[in-house]
Amino acid sequence: MSTPIAGLPERITIYEVGPRDGLQNESAPIPTEVKAGLVTRLLDAGLPVVEATSFVHPRWVPQLADAGELLDALTAHLGDAARDLPVLVPNERGLDRALERGCRHVAVFGSATQTFAQRNLNRSWDSQFAMFAPVVERALAAGADVRAYVSMCFGDPWEGAVDPDRVVETGQRLLAMGATQLSLGDTIGVGTAGQVGDLVGRFVAAGTPLEALALHFHDTYGQALANVLAGLHAGVTTYDASAGGLGGCPYARSATGNLATEDLLWFCRGLGIETGVDLDAVVATSRWVAGHLGRPSPSAVVRALAD
Ligand code: HMG
Ligand code: MG
Repeated sequence: MSTPIAGLPERITIYEVGPRDGLQNESAPIPTEVKAGLVTRLLDAGLPVVEATSFVHPRWVPQLADAGELLDALTAHLGDAARDLPVLVPNERGLDRALERGCRHVAVFGSATQTFAQRNLNRSWDSQFAMFAPVVERALAAGADVRAYVSMCFGDPWEGAVDPDRVVETGQRLLAMGATQLSLGDTIGVGTAGQVGDLVGRFVAAGTPLEALALHFHDTYGQALANVLAGLHAGVTTYDASAGGLGGCPYARSATGNLATEDLLWFCRGLGIETGVDLDAVVATSRWVAGHLGRPSPSAVVRALAD
């Protein structure tokens, strides 16, 4: 039984980031086979896109140091389809590692602010683009497509308020390189609904097609679903989420879990918005992974649906 709101999209795409954004911050080592099990369970639950890992410097994100081994394990489970799982690549070295594994979808990740570019990428705001440009060019030449993230779109823990025009400029530069999708990140979960509608409107006014936009909310202040509703009203149809609400960025002070996939699924079910994803199967997966992490899922829906 659902009660739609007139004017919202009938269907959305959920871009699952749990195995990457969800696990990258975990300090205790997680066996590669558990990570592979998480990815395959999420695919089995009907998630159309599951971001698997990051080819970043292993010293910067030790938890994902097994990215190559994980891709090998996933290839053993999924065959050629493993190549369709997106992976993060910050630079050419990361791209080389991803292409060696045959990856067909890569994502670069930029920052709208100077401080986070420096802390997360060891680059200034301006020089991050010089790092990404050859990555995007070579990825496209190799037949891969490129998603680009923009972090700190709604607030930055060091700089405070973020100028939305700077966010648009950051995103436009990444799209101009050839990225096909732009994911606007509320890295520390401080954004509120009015900001979301305003930012999407600025991108549209700058000529960005709505289909090229995705929204990536962390739920630090409990605003993620309200922000999704604002995004739906603005016409965005791709939302990033993380099974069980795992997540956080190791280089962003006060970044906590992502919007939980289950919370988003419950919300969509109530509104009659199609996702193609089996809520019960995602809940079971989050409970399974919580067992491996040794603590319960922070997702309200996972807790509510627990037997
Ligand atoms: P750097 O130290 O400036 O790297 O780090 P460099 O280019 O100077 O290279 C130094 C050494 O590292 C060289 O080795 C390179 O080969 C090696 P040496 O010659 O000294 O022996 N190296 C690598 N090795 C393996 N893989 C690589 C790689 N790159 C260089 N890819 C760098 C720059 C970008 C690499 C580093 O800052 C980094 O890895 N950062 C990643 C941080 C990260 O992963 N953060 C989390 C993801 S972002 C996020 O979560 C936000 C998001 O969810 C959206 C949102 O919420 O807003 C996406
Ligand atoms: Mg994130």
